[in-house]
Amino acid sequence: MSAILTAENVCRDFKIGDGSVVNALKNINVEIEQGKLTVLRGRSGSGKTTLINILGALDRPTEGKVMFLDEDITALSDKQRDEKRRYDMSFVFQSVALISSMTGYENVEFGLRLAGYPAAQREERVKMCLANVGLAKRMHHRPGEMSGGEQQRVAIARAIAHSPKIIFADEPTAELDTQTSLYIVKLFKELVEKEGMTIVMTTHDPSMMDVADVVYTLEDGEIVE
Ligand SMILES: Nc1ncnc2c1ncn2[C@@H]1O[C@H](COP(=O)(O)OP(=O)(O)OP(=O)(O)O)[C@@H](O)[C@H]1O
Ligand SMILES: [Mg+2]
Repeated sequence: MSAILTAENVCRDFKIGDGSVVNALKNINVEIEQGKLTVLRGRSGSGKTTLINILGALDRPTEGKVMFLDEDITALSDKQRDEKRRYDMSFVFQSVALISSMTGYENVEFGLRLAGYPAAQREERVKMCLANVGLAKRMHHRPGEMSGGEQQRVAIARAIAHSPKIIFADEPTAELDTQTSLYIVKLFKELVEKEGMTIVMTTHDPSMMDVADVVYTLEDGEIVE
């Protein structure tokens, strides 16, 4: 067992308009293992998004720290954290954030360009990743010419293309029907098993638990058994 990412005694408080404080996360300890699919589950408002955002360096904890490959990323500057995210991490969100004027191919290619992937190898890599998610035939469609599941698969191809060390997915299947959701989750499972990727996903869909290697349950900002 080797942890790629750990949260140590993480708390996150939000101050809201009326001056009161929401304790969204209370003393969270989790270990994300390399090469595994970890699921964070829990009811709406339990703290899943807050936690995944902190694990992925999109947000900072109020207390506690996050270690990524033995480095305390909570202690880094914003710029250093941006770099970690750009090169080592990837994100897949509930509502797909593809660029609507670009085809599937161009969306994935653009992501590689941002990550500084060598130009000469981009075309081959883009085609391979789109084929990996079963979209070889649809790669020249724009998002508006694809189904929700196909768009999410482009987003996944974009997320895996630069070979990040870890992928974060916040409710990636929430807007998809059951069958398409299962397809996406099986795809994640395949990426973990065949390509050795590390994936952290949030969901409140019980049918997604079967494929997870590790499940953490959040209740009211705390990890429960
Ligand atoms: N920016 C914010 N300001 C104030 N309170 C917040 C903020 N973000 C989240 N919260 C509160 O923190 C708690 C956890 O929210 P979070 O979004 O992490 O839940 P979630 O488990 O992802 O829920 P869902 O399943 O609905 O996405 C909730 O009580 C929420 O109202
Ligand atoms: Mg959420």
